[in-house]
Amino acid sequence: MNIVLLGAPGAGKGTQAAKLVEEYGLCHISTGDILRAAVANQTELGQKAKSYMDEGELVPDELIIDLMRERIQQPDTVKGVILDGFPRTTTQAVALDTMLSHLGRPLDAALLVDVEPDVIVKRLTSRRMCRDCGHIGSVSDGQNCPECGGEMYQRDDDNEATVRNRLEVYETSTAPLIDYYKGSDKLVPVDGDRTPDEVFADVEKSLSL
Ligand code: AP5
Repeated sequence: MNIVLLGAPGAGKGTQAAKLVEEYGLCHISTGDILRAAVANQTELGQKAKSYMDEGELVPDELIIDLMRERIQQPDTVKGVILDGFPRTTTQAVALDTMLSHLGRPLDAALLVDVEPDVIVKRLTSRRMCRDCGHIGSVSDGQNCPECGGEMYQRDDDNEATVRNRLEVYETSTAPLIDYYKGSDKLVPVDGDRTPDEVFADVEKSLSL
């Protein structure tokens, strides 16, 4: 199964992706995670991407499309992928269609995790992540990861000003993909403003898993 995860920053895409990986063993590709690793390792891609990410702007399409064209051909994607954070523009969505068509792997669904902006600002400014295992948690977890004991940290782009800009960028550049996938009958919306487990139960039902 090949799934695109759509939704505003902080809607819970990463949280639902982790559950899909745990339950169904799909390959999770998060462009945000790849870019953050590139920034941390100071690769050429990371150096190009950092200033856009710090401002909450999108990294240019050509960098992302080149990155994904290579990533989606890796052997671990053969049984199915969850694309988290890609595509984010119509140009990227068209490029993805071309990539999947070359690989002979159709897209099954674009899962939209839908949450109101006010809820999102609160979620993201209190989000904390584990440096070691990538666990997504919140400030209430304290300084150590509840999963592995690693150090919990706040992402550079989770301050309120950057979160608000990310939401504006989402509305302008990414929200049009809702109509794009509605048009091809792939859109599967779920209400993301419930507990993660309730959202996941709906995800499983909506995708007939
Ligand atoms: P990226 O890493 O993709 O960030 P994002 O889309 O802003 O999404 P987030 O990771 O912030 O949120 P999420 O929806 O995964 O929520 P989560 O599950 O963590 O991108 C970062 C940057 O990289 C971009 O701004 C851009 O610069 C660049 N980039 C990436 N891809 C790109 C692309 N394709 N093109 C161009 N640029 C690109 O949950 C959030 C919080 O809420 C957590 O604390 C979690 O515990 C909590 N939570 C989750 N679900 C629930 C729930 N149901 N109830 C209560 N709390 C919940």
